[in-house]
Amino acid sequence: MRLKVLGSSAGGGFPQWNCNCPNCAGLRAGTIQARARTQSSVAVSVNGVDWLLVNASPEVLQQVREHPELQPARQVRDSGIAAVLLIDAQIDHTTGLLMLRERGTPLPLYATPEVLSDLGDGFPLTRMLSFYCGLDTRPIALNGTPLDLPFLGGVDVLPVPLTSQPPPYSPFRGKPRVGDNIGLLFVNRSNGRRLFYAPGLGQIEPQVQAAMASADVVLVDGTFWTEDEMIRLGLSKKPAAVMGHLPQSGPGGMIEVLDALPASTRKVLIHINNTNPILREDSAERAELSAHGIEVAFDGLEITL
Ligand code: MLT
Ligand code: MN
Ligand code: ZN
Repeated sequence: MRLKVLGSSAGGGFPQWNCNCPNCAGLRAGTIQARARTQSSVAVSVNGVDWLLVNASPEVLQQVREHPELQPARQVRDSGIAAVLLIDAQIDHTTGLLMLRERGTPLPLYATPEVLSDLGDGFPLTRMLSFYCGLDTRPIALNGTPLDLPFLGGVDVLPVPLTSQPPPYSPFRGKPRVGDNIGLLFVNRSNGRRLFYAPGLGQIEPQVQAAMASADVVLVDGTFWTEDEMIRLGLSKKPAAVMGHLPQSGPGGMIEVLDALPASTRKVLIHINNTNPILREDSAERAELSAHGIEVAFDGLEITL
């Protein structure tokens, strides 16, 4: 199984269009050692032709251009994107669905009933897209059974429920439901290897801990370095916890969580917000991650399981 990181940034991307924080301004001016990143998405394939797009980023068209594997060109109109799976209904994970509207047949879309309800209501993508290709929705059940993805033969995809919030636009904001957010455990049945993907992790609940402990690779929330990162820069009033993201530094932070995993586990952070100092390849924070054996995902990173 191959997993390609199409977009390693959090919502807004890096640099963010209207942001002049030290990272965004520094990247534009070429004065910091960092690389640009598009918004949160990965793609998974077994045969290298049929891909599961996990989250449809606002930059999906750029991501398809940058990854020719996603365009096998078997006929005059074609795509390697066999289906899309959404882990939540956030704008950075769903807006790209609008960009895929030129398909000839309804787009297979895997998501929980809760995510599908937000996409039928607060952000009515289901209705809008019904006037274009339409969506062939496949509700994800959170009953412990792996998803049936025929084009990912030999790989089980296990959804893991996460306690967090639906997006700000959701009628259920402040009244979270099980199914608003999930992580994914990919299990390669041929070699037993497992990868846990969760770009939004507010807390390490028992089921998350179990999934991480069982995995050979964890690709998890790298949004913020500190709880008050956005507040200190004057960019938001919301601490990381309110946004559903566990910061890396400090007691109980992601570094400590990852340190508790076996040394053999590959640890990679993804969904990095543009304010995060770990984006600077020569920063003290980045060096601290390296000292703990923690990598920072970048667009184009490929992981073989
Ligand atoms: C988040 O995960 O908190 C998002 O990146 C927010 C957003 O897309 O606006
Ligand atoms: Mn996000
Ligand atoms: Zn910024």
